[in-house]
Amino acid sequence: MSPHDVVLIPGDGIGPEVTDAGLRVLEAAGAPLRFQVHHAGVTAIEQGLDVLPDSTVEAIKHCGVGLKGPCTTPVGEGFTSVNVQLRQKLNLFAAVRPVRNLEGITTRFDDVNLVIIRENTEGLYSGVENQVTPDVVMSMKVATQTACDRISRFGFRFATLRQRNKITVFHKANIMKLTDGLFLRCAQQVHQSEYPNIAYEEMIIDAGCMKIVQDPSQFDVLLLENLYGDVVSDLCAGLVGGLGVVPGANIGEDLAVFEAVHGSAPDIAGQGVANPLALIMSSVMMLNHLADTRNDPACRAAGDRIKTSYNRALADGCHTRDLGGDLDTSGFVAALLERLD
Ligand code: NAI
Repeated sequence: MSPHDVVLIPGDGIGPEVTDAGLRVLEAAGAPLRFQVHHAGVTAIEQGLDVLPDSTVEAIKHCGVGLKGPCTTPVGEGFTSVNVQLRQKLNLFAAVRPVRNLEGITTRFDDVNLVIIRENTEGLYSGVENQVTPDVVMSMKVATQTACDRISRFGFRFATLRQRNKITVFHKANIMKLTDGLFLRCAQQVHQSEYPNIAYEEMIIDAGCMKIVQDPSQFDVLLLENLYGDVVSDLCAGLVGGLGVVPGANIGEDLAVFEAVHGSAPDIAGQGVANPLALIMSSVMMLNHLADTRNDPACRAAGDRIKTSYNRALADGCHTRDLGGDLDTSGFVAALLERLD
């Protein structure tokens, strides 16, 4: 089988550092991939391009798969988030974020094994904001039956395929009766009519967050609208060692873009100390996606090799600074390469 073409977006801040680390590991593991580099974010602007160039979007449509570093979004002003735009333009409606303890990383809990399924295209991230008067502004939360049905079906199908037993929806339908109410009704309907064998529960999000930090082992698959999924992803990352160890995938009907949950980390950018593991784990998710959708066992084999190497490195105490260790980005990559079969 010929190599799979993948769009690589290095991104901003620590993005180029972690994607470069990821490429080194993928290459050493013999992953059958051929990368095309395209830009987005501040990096694209600096090169005289649009913040999200059409060529980047078209390249992902053509290749079907992308691996992306984080992109910076200005706070309180400036351009619309590239990450939100990309998910909307490519209809990458489901974010999948597995959160698990890793051997060698000691945290408050040792039994975290949950997956966040986040609706990626609407809610408060629809970008509908208005200045009503000079001192009154508003943001619209948008929920459509199409998107709520689609993410519910995705979540239950995912749980079934991965032999997971329970879906929990976090919501605030006591306050946002229409939007979160629709989300709940769609999840209930999909559960009752199509997946009655998967356990299903609902929690008001504030109480749900308290339960996560008290005992995360009670959660299996969390099904969340856009904003809740964003916030709860970082909260859950904190349970297993932080943003350096949580990967992610943005999945659509035919397209998929893989990226870590973390952002561009401007506080450590350019220092060569970022933890590349979340991006490397996202690459493994990408290889498994290619193995499944293109029936290529070489992708799964390369992904398994990478997974074994990072599990060995972590168990041997090879940790970057965010995990309390003293390795820099390239030191951690070297530790992985030494342990690659
Ligand atoms: P952030 O995730 O970039 O950083 C939060 C904290 O975690 C920082 O202290 C940072 O140093 C640390 N951190 C994050 N990733 C790390 C890694 N791999 N290794 C070691 N430490 C790591 O979140 P923040 O500061 O809220 O956002 C910074 C920028 O990133 C913003 O412009 C934001 O819009 C953007 N962003 C982009 C995302 C994406 O491209 N998907 C996702 C989240 C934020």
